[in-house]
Amino acid sequence: MDTIRKLKAAVIFGTRPDAVKMASLVKELKMNSSSIDTIVCVTAQHRQMLDQVLDIFNLVPGYDLDIMQERQSLEHITTKALEGMASVFEKERPDIVLVHGDTTTCFAASLAAFYKKIKVGHVEAGLRTFDKYYPFPEEINRRLAGVLADFHFAPTPLNKENLLREGVNEKSIYVTGNTVIDALKTTVREDYIFHDEKLRSIDFAGKRLIVVEAHRRENLGPPMENICKAVKAITERYEDTIAVYPVHLNPAVRETAWSILGDCPGVHLIDPIDVQDMHNLIDRSYMVMTDSGGLQEEAPALGKPVLVLRNETERPEAVEAGTVALAGTCMDGIIALASRLLESKDEYNRMARAVNPYGDGNASKRIVKAILYEFGLSNERPAEFRSQVR
Ligand code: UD1
Repeated sequence: MDTIRKLKAAVIFGTRPDAVKMASLVKELKMNSSSIDTIVCVTAQHRQMLDQVLDIFNLVPGYDLDIMQERQSLEHITTKALEGMASVFEKERPDIVLVHGDTTTCFAASLAAFYKKIKVGHVEAGLRTFDKYYPFPEEINRRLAGVLADFHFAPTPLNKENLLREGVNEKSIYVTGNTVIDALKTTVREDYIFHDEKLRSIDFAGKRLIVVEAHRRENLGPPMENICKAVKAITERYEDTIAVYPVHLNPAVRETAWSILGDCPGVHLIDPIDVQDMHNLIDRSYMVMTDSGGLQEEAPALGKPVLVLRNETERPEAVEAGTVALAGTCMDGIIALASRLLESKDEYNRMARAVNPYGDGNASKRIVKAILYEFGLSNERPAEFRSQVR
């Protein structure tokens, strides 16, 4: 590869979780400003929820496509992000475009970069459920980004194995750990005071806290109703529990959550909270029930058991480590698993162990080292993250 003097990197994201996971990478890129110019471009596939993260991490986007619409379709997100990114890339001509994860923003930005023959680095590459429709459309978004990517930043050794099986050149894969663990290291504190006023007003004393977060497209409708009914039943059966559910701003999610849980005394429905509040809330919890991907990575690092409200997961490492269990989306199944954790101390202690299968807090450093290496600005290929599990 030709050696170039200074590199221009465009970092792209559009949703809340991607922003959380790209924040530490942007910081690390900026710390290498003698070798790399960094521009941040957001699609704002999410608006308010993205802005919360931008504020917390002091991220100022150079470009903001502001594409979000109420009840937006996947076609809307894809076409707006594709066209918007194309004009940004045309103007800025970055050497590398860095995308994250499995969102439609990630796929559309990778495609836009490919059309301009710009190199693509895929952060959080290689996670797979091997089921085309679960999660929908994320499994295919991630696979498509993988096909378009030149460099694959795989969080775990298992993610690398998945890519190798698909014929990806081993030299282009870097096992880095997940950048979400980088973020976690900066947010959790024992003396933390919640930003959110509603959270501050909840009396947690003597209660076992269950953090609930469910929002995924494939769970909208009956699965989401089952999840909410299960949460209701659990808090009614175990009076020493309290559930806090920061409800996603998607109107379809809000309608279901409020209609089933709005009047439950043991359940606090609140608006989405910022990432510092969320990480500290998990840290103070007894357990987490979620269909979110990020929480499946964060909670095990904080030693909290997770019930995944899905039938599969692209993050099996913590399931293998025994700290995450797949609870599915049937009411009885969710209640049964939650009851075991609430009734059996042994079962609880078995799952409530801090494990670190997803990262060691140095993922962003490894990614930047890999970029410098790939573009001939360093001779040193970064050492791989070694997971405790697999
Ligand atoms: C998206 C990602 C998903 C990720 C999730 C995290 C896709 C296809 N899905 O799903 O992988 O897990 O983000 O949250 O890329 N809304 C607001 N304000 C906000 C954010 C969302 O009002 O700040 C509403 C909008 O009405 C929007 C709806 O939420 O139509 C759904 O948002 P969208 O980005 O389409 O999908 P998510 O379910 O959030």
